[in-house]
Amino acid sequence: MKVLLIGATGNLGVRLVAALLTHGHVVVAYVRSANKLESLLPTSIYSQITVVEGNAKDSSLISRAILEHNCEAVVNSAGLAAMAPWKRNDLPEIFSAVLKGVQKAGVQRNEPLRAWFLGGLGVLQFPGTDTMLSNYVPIFLEHRQNIKLLRALPPRSVEWSLLCPSTMTAENLQVSVPAKSIHNKLTANSTSPPLWQDSWLKHIPFLGKLILAAMNAPRYDTTLEQNADFIASDLTDRESRWIGVPVGVIDATK
Ligand SMILES: NC(=O)c1ccc[n+]([C@@H]2O[C@H](COP(=O)([O-])OP(=O)(O)OC[C@H]3O[C@@H](n4cnc5c(N)ncnc54)[C@H](OP(=O)(O)O)[C@@H]3O)[C@@H](O)[C@H]2O)c1
Repeated sequence: MKVLLIGATGNLGVRLVAALLTHGHVVVAYVRSANKLESLLPTSIYSQITVVEGNAKDSSLISRAILEHNCEAVVNSAGLAAMAPWKRNDLPEIFSAVLKGVQKAGVQRNEPLRAWFLGGLGVLQFPGTDTMLSNYVPIFLEHRQNIKLLRALPPRSVEWSLLCPSTMTAENLQVSVPAKSIHNKLTANSTSPPLWQDSWLKHIPFLGKLILAAMNAPRYDTTLEQNADFIASDLTDRESRWIGVPVGVIDATK
């Protein structure tokens, strides 16, 4: 697929460039600074991609980039959610502009685009309930308004998926493009976290679910490379089972 990757200079973004190439996609990177991206990638990787400069808050420019480069899919890793609930940043503005740009381009090409967005563990549901985990552990709350926007889209206007990882760390500081993926595959589940460990603790009044969520959270730590690989691999599947749902992931090999 030809993929517009928005936020290619980020921690996840540079690894998405590599993973998309490993899985045979054509990459159009959308970044604020081409020079910055060039400084972050080995020349052998940078020379394989097309780079478009623009702001992720500019929905018209995003639509134009999609249409001019004939992209069939978009991955958005631009913006970073604030951890503390009282902190605010521009992720909601970025997210809604990207979504608007993707939706508009779909209308103009008469076919919805496939798109992966980034959320966080907190927008998944506490297993067995219809309540988000972030109701119990109120951090990274900006993802909640983003998932609301996705769910409010008219049917079939964007073939979206929302990856909802917990903390992601780097396996390698060097970015490379192996001929095939070398990372442990993630186990995924839609709507609630996969392989949740249940406990009687959840029945403790008021604090039980918070305690259980906090105990489970570190089990969902994964690597940036694994998540990049998950998205890139899924984009090779035209009938992805993750379309229209938030997706939780775990490294079950740990
Ligand atoms: N890291 C984690 O552990 C983790 C866990 C769960 C979810 N997530 C989510 O995953 C996503 C990616 O995380 P990350 O760690 O890769 O973040 P990051 O390293 O901070 O990267 C953010 C990217 O957004 C770009 N950006 C910011 N504002 C922009 C704008 N106005 N126009 C264009 N680009 C803009 C930055 O570009 P510049 O280089 O130009 O600044 C950078 O490429 C975020 O949504 C985050 O909330 C992360």
